[in-house]
Amino acid sequence: MKKALFILLSLAFAAGLFALISTSLHNFNGDAWNPGGEICEPCHTPHAALAVTDAPLWNHAATAEVFDQYLGYDMDADGGTVGEPAGISLLCLSCHDGVTALDAFGGAAGDAVNNSLTSHDTLTGSVFGTDLTNDHPISITYDTALTGVDTELHDPSGANTFSAGVTIQDAMLGGGDQLECSSCHDVHNTSALTSLLRKANTASALCLTCHDK
Ligand code: HEC
Ligand code: HEC
Ligand code: HEC
Ligand code: HEC
Repeated sequence: MKKALFILLSLAFAAGLFALISTSLHNFNGDAWNPGGEICEPCHTPHAALAVTDAPLWNHAATAEVFDQYLGYDMDADGGTVGEPAGISLLCLSCHDGVTALDAFGGAAGDAVNNSLTSHDTLTGSVFGTDLTNDHPISITYDTALTGVDTELHDPSGANTFSAGVTIQDAMLGGGDQLECSSCHDVHNTSALTSLLRKANTASALCLTCHDK
């Protein structure tokens, strides 16, 4: 019985069915800037975590940059103004801002500045940097009340899901109503989709989960 289970698991691994963080670009094992070789350590620590708002046992220095946010076309969320990135988005930008060192974790200052990361700006070949004016708004409030003002958005507490059992509401963070990078991305690659997405964007399925167009 055990042997059969072992063979089954081996086959599953061989077929890549267990494609989690270890098979993603977020597996930093083997990267020169991560000599300890641990996968979780650049982001998390079991002890002596940093006091960073909304962060789960966080081990990475927070970005100190000031960002230029998306200005909006006809935005309704938060009165139409997008503020500075906050919460989980700030954690992502701590590596994806092109300024803060990747190896600034575990108390180290770090010096491996990330200037080759792919980003929403891959078409121009640049990194995220601090200019988010051409990126989807983040750190905005997306709750049921917003869908009363912007009727072309699905109610986040409604039936739409990103994957089995994961509603829009589940993908809202920081008090349960903030749209962040993690609303569209799955940092641990548990969905095993390209670009660490929560849901494949085939025929814009990801966009249509929230937008009622
Ligand atoms: C690139 C940074 C990064 C790496 C590497 C990483 N995490 Fe995370 N983790 C995050 C962020 C950001 C969150 C909070 C937001 C989210 O869940 O999307 C999080 C949340 C969590 C949570 C709480 C929420 C949940 O999903 O249950 C656990 C537990 C966790 N991580 C465990 C791990 C473990 C174990 C590893 C290593 C195998 C790991 N993480 C690697 C960034 C990372
Ligand atoms: C997690 C939910 C969610 C997903 C997924 C999502 N959006 Fe959005 N999007 C929003 C919310 C909420 C707003 C803010 C709407 C407002 O304030 O009127 C917004 C704003 C926008 C805006 C700006 C509107 C303006 O007036 O400036 C555009 C354009 C847009 N989204 C397109 C997309 C596209 C394209 C995708 C897929 C790649 C996508 N969105 C995925 C929730 C989402
Ligand atoms: C510890 C630093 C670090 C943190 C924190 C971090 N990333 Fe990354 N991320 C990286 C690196 C390094 C890469 C690899 C880039 C490359 O090789 O081009 C990457 C790659 C990615 C990719 C591209 C994946 C692909 O398959 O193309 C996405 C998407 C991404 N990160 C999103 C996020 C989001 C969202 C968060 C926050 C929830 C986050 N990252 C937090 C360092 C980080
Ligand atoms: C509304 C959904 C949405 C939000 C919010 C969002 N992304 Fe993305 N992101 C995508 C989609 C969809 C892609 C796939 C490529 C594309 O269409 O540009 C992508 C691509 C990327 C890539 C490039 C991956 C590659 O393989 O080239 C990175 C890195 C990334 N996102 C990081 C982030 C970070 C960091 C944030 C927060 C500051 C963020 N994203 C917020 C939807 C989103």
